[in-house]
Amino acid sequence: MIIVTGGAGFIGSNFVLDWLAGGDEPVVNVDKLTYAGNLGNLASLEGDARHLFVHADICDNAEMAALLARHQPRAIVHFAAESHVDRSIHGPAEFIRTNVNGTFSLLEAARHYWSALGAQEKTAFRFLHVSTDEVYGSLGPTDPPFTETTAYAPNSPYSASKAGSDHLVRAYHHTYGMPTLTTNCSNNYGPYHFPEKLIPLIITNALSGKDLPIYGDGQQVRDWLYVGDHCAAIRRVLEAGRTGEVYNIGGWNEKANLDVVHTLCELLDTLSPRADGKSYREQITYVTDRPGHDRRYAIDARKIERELGWKPAETFETGLRKTVQWYLSHQEWVANVQSGAYLKWVETNYGQRAGAGASA
Ligand code: NAD
Ligand code: TYD
Repeated sequence: MIIVTGGAGFIGSNFVLDWLAGGDEPVVNVDKLTYAGNLGNLASLEGDARHLFVHADICDNAEMAALLARHQPRAIVHFAAESHVDRSIHGPAEFIRTNVNGTFSLLEAARHYWSALGAQEKTAFRFLHVSTDEVYGSLGPTDPPFTETTAYAPNSPYSASKAGSDHLVRAYHHTYGMPTLTTNCSNNYGPYHFPEKLIPLIITNALSGKDLPIYGDGQQVRDWLYVGDHCAAIRRVLEAGRTGEVYNIGGWNEKANLDVVHTLCELLDTLSPRADGKSYREQITYVTDRPGHDRRYAIDARKIERELGWKPAETFETGLRKTVQWYLSHQEWVANVQSGAYLKWVETNYGQRAGAGASA
């Protein structure tokens, strides 16, 4: 069996669902259920003996050690993290705690467990650390995309904490010989994405008649990858990646934020038109920029394609259409996650951003 951490979050729950849809190897899913963790994402697995949910904090080293001893996994796929840049600006401490100390605590538990395995199990064991392209910092408009050897230059408390965790994973391979793998992926989108991040925020705000907030000039560029493609890449790295290696994962799909929002408005105009017949673009509002906002991320994903034969299956058009359709048919999921705590976050993040007036 495998252990997945953070499997009640956005990417983790997609990973668990895809994993069990594609095979019968059991998953022990360890999640603290922060605001971002939602067991509702895994409702379709209720009563499924292949999935065991454990409510636990990765910072609890004794509990992690006990879990490993009890379940004897062949691999750990580590998603658990605080993941939202804006939240890291408002409250960085939790990011250091979970992303740095939590990864350290998990690595320590894994090292002790792995050291005591028999020779064969020891060689076969994998610790796969899921990370982000944001550790490489910000690119200029004509810079080449990030490769696996691009120097780290994290700019936000979030990316700095992820960079710290990446370095620890690297050190555990180099020093102890632990069979680790690290993946650095670009921005994901798709089902079960918490509506604090750009794409689900725009879809849900549009449908409820709210403003569509664009930070700064909206010309910041991100590379976007459909979450199912990310999960397939992780499965492939787990299966055939070379230990100690880093694999960049991306969609070859750079878009400026404003273009993403325009595309979403067009899709919604077709799939769920406004009652007044006007475009959702009318709701676009420019707001004060994010402090330290990275201008551009881009991923060179040639290594994973060359070595492991992975490339994305979805285009931005097919992936985004699927995503909008998913949100339209899962209004109850949206209502459930937009609880009191979510409203408080909206006030914290957007309440003090002076709107610069609506404009399409
Ligand atoms: P998410 O915020 O949706 O989910 C994180 C999950 O981790 C939640 O279920 C949460 O309850 C759990 N968690 C948080 N702290 C924990 C702790 N101390 N112990 C146990 N569980 C804890 O995040 P996501 O978007 O699914 O991202 C998953 C991973 O992928 C993260 O490591 C993130 O850095 C990385 N990543 C995300 C993206 C993206 O676009 N979302 C892109 C590249 C990499
Ligand atoms: P986000 O989804 O938070 O991901 P990240 O910051 O990790 O890339 O944001 C994606 C981009 O969208 C980023 O450049 C910030 C921008 N953005 C907005 O313009 N408005 C918003 O309300 C949000 C949440 C993000």
